Amino acid sequence: MTRRIIIDTDTAADDCFALLVGMCHPDAHLEAVTIVAGNVEFDQQIENALLTIDMAGRAGKVPVHPGCRRPMLRPWHRANAHGDGKGNWDFPRPAGRPETEHAVEALLRMVNESPGEIDIVAIGPLTNIAAAVVQDPEFPQKVRSLFVMGGCDNSVGNVTAAAEYNFYVDPEAARIVLRSGFQPTIVTWTLTLAQAVWSRERLRAIDALDTPRAEFFSIVNRPTLEVNETRGIRGSTHPDSLTAMLLVRPDLVTRASRCYVDVETQGELTRGYSLVDRRSERHAPNATVVDEIDAEGFFAAMVELLSKGRNA
Ligand code: BDR
Ligand code: CA
Repeated sequence: MTRRIIIDTDTAADDCFALLVGMCHPDAHLEAVTIVAGNVEFDQQIENALLTIDMAGRAGKVPVHPGCRRPMLRPWHRANAHGDGKGNWDFPRPAGRPETEHAVEALLRMVNESPGEIDIVAIGPLTNIAAAVVQDPEFPQKVRSLFVMGGCDNSVGNVTAAAEYNFYVDPEAARIVLRSGFQPTIVTWTLTLAQAVWSRERLRAIDALDTPRAEFFSIVNRPTLEVNETRGIRGSTHPDSLTAMLLVRPDLVTRASRCYVDVETQGELTRGYSLVDRRSERHAPNATVVDEIDAEGFFAAMVELLSKGRNA
C-alpha cells in the first residue's frame, strides 16, 4: 500500500537518505518536505533538501516548506557531526526553490485536506509538529501516523550523557508532541547505536553500486562517518533513514513496546532526557518504542534503493 508522507526534517546527512526513502521506495509517496531548525544552518538545510530532491530526479515535484527557524523557547544548537550536511561537497545549485507557505501552515492544510491519510515522519527537533498541535489540538487525530526519530531508551545520548540531539534541542516541543495524543512510533538513538551503524565494509558495498544515488550517499555520508569514528562509533549512523524505512517496511520491526514516554525539560543535567516507562500499570502508553529491527533487512532495503538509477 502506498503511503502518503510528509517528512519533517533538519536536512543534513542521514536526513537526506530518509528523503530518498520517501521519494524512491515503491510504497512511498513523498507529498512534501517541511524544514525545522536543527542540524546545520537553516537555509543550508533547505538547500540540502532541494539538492536531495534533484538527486532523486524529482526537481520541482516535491514542495519544500521552510518552518520554525529556532526551537520554541531556547536558542538554536547545531549538531557538530555532519559538516554542511551535504558532505561539504560543491554540488551544482539545486533547480527547485522553496515554497512561500510556512511549514506549519502546510502541515495543517495538507492534513486537513486529507484527514486520516497522511503519515508524518519527523526526523528533526519537534518544533514544527508541536507548533501545529498548538494551532490545532485536533491535529494528532487527523494524522494517519507519526513516526519520530528522537530520544534514548533510558540510555546514553549523543549530545550529553542524558540526551539525544532532537529531544535535546527542543525538549518543550518533544513534550508537547508526546502529550498530545499522536501515539507516535519512536526510533531512539539507543536502537540506532545497537542496530543502525554501518561499518566501512558495508559502506564500501554501497560505493561499489556505482549509481548516482550511491555516489550521492557516499559523499554526503562521509562527515558523519569520520566524526563518529572520533567518538568511538565504528561506522555511520542511520536513525532518520531507518525511521522513514520502518513506515513503509513495518515488517522490519521485530520487537516494539507500547510504553509511556516523556521528556525532561527542567533538569540541570538532564535536559532532553527521554524517560521510557514500560510499567503500564503506572501510566497509560502514549507511544510505541521500537526495541529491535531486522538490521540486515534494513541495510538490504537501503542498498536496493541506492542501486536503482537516478530516475527509477
Ligand atoms: C538525530 O540528530 C541529528 O543529527 C540526526 O539527523 C538525527 O535526526 C540523531 O540524534
Ligand atoms: Ca535529523
